[in-house]
Amino acid sequence: MNGQVSDTKMCIFFIFILSTLEICQSLAPRNVYTNHWAVRIAGGQEEADKLAAKYGYNNYGQIGSLEDHYHFHHSRVVRRAAFSTRGAHSFIQMDPKVDWVQQQLVKQRVKRYIKSDTRSPDPNFIHFNDPKWSNMWYIHCTDKNNRCRSEMNILAAWQRGYTGKNVVVTILDDGIERNHPDLAQNYDQLASYDVNGNDHDPTPRYDSSNENKHGTRCAGEVAAVANNSHCIVGIAYNARIGGIRMLDGDVTDVVEAKSLGVRPDYIDIYSASWGPDDDGKTVDGPGPLAKQAFEMGIKKGRKGLGSIFVWASGNGGRQGDHCSCDGYTNSIYTISISSTTENGNKPWYLEVCSSTLATTYSSGEFYDRKIVTTDLRQRCTDGHTGTSVSAPMVAGVIALTLEANPLVSWRDIQHLLVKTSRPVHLKANDWKTNAAGHRVSHLYGFGLVDAEGMVVEAKKWRSVPTQHTCTRISWETVRPHYHNAVYIPWCTEQAEQHVSYVEHVVVKVLVVHPRRGDLEVSLISPSGTRSQLLAKRLFDNSNEGFRNWEFMTVHCWGERAEGQWILEIIDNPSSLRNPEVLGKLKEWTLVLYGTSGHPYQSHGTQHSRSRMLKIPTPSRDPNGECGDQGCDGPDPDHCLNCIHYSLGSLKTGRTCVSHCPLGFYDNLEARRCRRCHKGCERCVGRTPTECRSCRRGLYFNPLNTTCSETCPAGYFADDSKSSGVA
Ligand SMILES: *[C@@H]1O[C@H](CO)[C@@H](O)[C@H](O)[C@H]1NC(C)=O
Ligand SMILES: *[C@@H]1O[C@H](CO)[C@@H](O)[C@H](O)[C@H]1NC(C)=O
Repeated sequence: MNGQVSDTKMCIFFIFILSTLEICQSLAPRNVYTNHWAVRIAGGQEEADKLAAKYGYNNYGQIGSLEDHYHFHHSRVVRRAAFSTRGAHSFIQMDPKVDWVQQQLVKQRVKRYIKSDTRSPDPNFIHFNDPKWSNMWYIHCTDKNNRCRSEMNILAAWQRGYTGKNVVVTILDDGIERNHPDLAQNYDQLASYDVNGNDHDPTPRYDSSNENKHGTRCAGEVAAVANNSHCIVGIAYNARIGGIRMLDGDVTDVVEAKSLGVRPDYIDIYSASWGPDDDGKTVDGPGPLAKQAFEMGIKKGRKGLGSIFVWASGNGGRQGDHCSCDGYTNSIYTISISSTTENGNKPWYLEVCSSTLATTYSSGEFYDRKIVTTDLRQRCTDGHTGTSVSAPMVAGVIALTLEANPLVSWRDIQHLLVKTSRPVHLKANDWKTNAAGHRVSHLYGFGLVDAEGMVVEAKKWRSVPTQHTCTRISWETVRPHYHNAVYIPWCTEQAEQHVSYVEHVVVKVLVVHPRRGDLEVSLISPSGTRSQLLAKRLFDNSNEGFRNWEFMTVHCWGERAEGQWILEIIDNPSSLRNPEVLGKLKEWTLVLYGTSGHPYQSHGTQHSRSRMLKIPTPSRDPNGECGDQGCDGPDPDHCLNCIHYSLGSLKTGRTCVSHCPLGFYDNLEARRCRRCHKGCERCVGRTPTECRSCRRGLYFNPLNTTCSETCPAGYFADDSKSSGVA
C-alpha cells in the first residue's frame, strides 16, 4: 500500500516537471486509475445513496453479492488517469459513515493475457513504446472482464507483415494537424487539400473550443506512427495520411464534389465521418455534383480499380433516425460502417438500416471504454466516440488489405468485407442468414470486421466479374398497405443486363404522403430475405413523401437474382394526421447490381453445380502449422478449434473453412458447418422448410420453402432455375 502511494506521488511529480506520460508509465506501469470506486458503507442502499449524493457520485448499487459494498462513479474525474485522484474525492474517505474506499485501477494487460484465452494474440508479441498502446483495447482485446470478446484481428494482420505501406488514405473533414508528432512522419502533402481555404494546407482552424479536432482524431486512428513514444499506434501505421479540409465552412455540392475528387489516381481511400443531420426527420443525400464525383471515383480512381469511399453510418439513434435517409451511406459506392460497444451491445447512437456493410468497436454508455487517438494541439485523447470512430478504423483495415493486394477493385473490397466480417458476439435480434449463406443484420451489416481475414483473403483474391445492372420500373399506382411484386426473369435474359448473382439492390420510390414518418418500407428477395428499407420515424412530419429517393440494401448479397421481388409499404397513421388522408406509391424502380456468373467462380464453372458441391480442402501455410482457413491448433486435419467454421466429424477428420460449402449451413454457436436437409443446396437450418435453394433435379417450392420433385398447384417447373415459378 505504501509503495503504491509513493509511486503515485512520484508520478505526479514527473508529470508536472516534464509533462510526459512515458516516465509515469515506466515507473508505475500498474497504476492506471479509473473514475470508479468501491465503497463500504453500513446501513443499506439508502444510506449509500445519501453519501453518494453528498460527495457528487452516482451509486451503481451493490457490488455483486458483497453486502455493504457499493460501486460509485464520479463523472468529473479524468478517466483512465495515471494518478490516483486526491482533493475533494478524498473527503469521502474521512466521512465517519464510510468504512473503506478504493479507487479502481486498471489491471495491466500483460498479466491478463497470461490468464486469458490463449487464442488471443499476445498484445506484447508486438511491443510498442507508444504510451497509450495499453489503452488500445479494441486492438489487443484482452480484458479481465472479457468485455471485448472478439478480435478485429488487427495484431494478426500486422504479424503477417501488413502495416499499410504504400497505401494512401485521406480524411474528408475539418482538417488535420499535419505537424502532430504522431502524424507528421506519415503525413502526405499530395493527399491533402484545403477546400475551405482553397490552398494546399489542411491545418485546422484553431479556436478556444477546439471545434475542429474531428479530422485529426480520425487521422490518428488510421495512420498514427508506431513506436515513436507518442500517443497511439494507427491501424495502418505505415500508410500515408492526408486530410481534406472541407467541413469548416459552408458545405455545398461543389465543396463535396471537390473533396471527393482530390487526386483520385494518388489517393486510394477516402474516409468520411459526416453526413446530413441525424435528427430523425431529414432525408438528404449527395447533390448531382457529388454523385458524379462518386461515379468518377469508382470508374477512374486508382487507375481504374476504383476509389474506396468509407462512410460512418450516422449517430442519430437516439432521434430514431434511420441511415437509409442518408444518401451517402445509402450509396452503393460508399462502404457504410456501423459501431458496437466493447460488450457487443447496440450503442445508443446507432442507426439501423440495410445499407450498412460492416462494424467496428467504438464507444457506448459512459461506463464503456472509448477510443484513444491523436488530438488537436499535439495532444492525445481517450474520448473519441460514435460512428466517426468506425469509418477510419475500416479505412485502416482496407489500407492493410490494399497492401496485401493492390489490384483489388472497389467492388472486391466490398466482397471481401461481406465474406470476412463476422457476427461474433454482437447482439441484435435480427441476425439472419441470407440464401448465399451470409449472416447479416440491420444494426451491423455482416458484422465485426476481421483485418486478418481481409488480408488473407485479399492475398489470394481473384477479381470479381464485371458489374452488371438490371433496372425494372413499375408504374402501377398503389395505396400503401399493399404488397407490390415485381417478377424478374427479365434480368437474366437480356445479355446486356444479365444479373444472376446479386450485390447491391437499390429501390427508387416515388411516394406522395401526408406524413412521411408513418411509413415502413421493406423489400423481400426471391429467396425470402427481408430488408427493412425504412422504419417509422417519430420526428419526421414532412409531407414531401419520397421523390425518387433511393433506398439500398446489401442483405441479398450473393443471392440469385431471378424471381419475385416484393416491395412492401406499410402506413401506420399516427395521431398527428388525419387518418382519412392516405398516401400513394406512384412509381418504383428496382435496380439489381451484380454479376452474370458466380462472383467467386471466374473460371467458367458457374453453371456446373456438381463442381460447386465439392468440399474445399484448406491449403496450408508454409510452416505446416495452421490451415490457411484458420485452424487454431497443431493438427489442421483434426482441428478442434477453427477460427471460422469446422467441417466434417472428429472421426473422419475436421477441416477449417472460412465459409460453409453448398449443402451445409453455418452453426454459429458451435462454429461448425452442418448439413442441410436432403436435397437442399443452400439452407439456413436443418429442417426441410429452411431450404433457400435446391440441388439439381429438384424444385424450390416458394410456398413453404422446401425442395421437392414436383411443383405445387399453380406453379410450373422452370428447369433453368431449378425453381418453381408462378
Ligand atoms: C519499439 O521500440 C523499442 C525500442 O524503443 C524496441 O525495443 C521494440 O522492439 C520496438 N517495437 C517494435 C514492434 O518495433
Ligand atoms: C410443402 O408443400 C408441398 C405442396 O405445395 C407439400 O407436398 C409438402 O409436403 C410441403 N412440405 C412441407 C415440409 O411442409
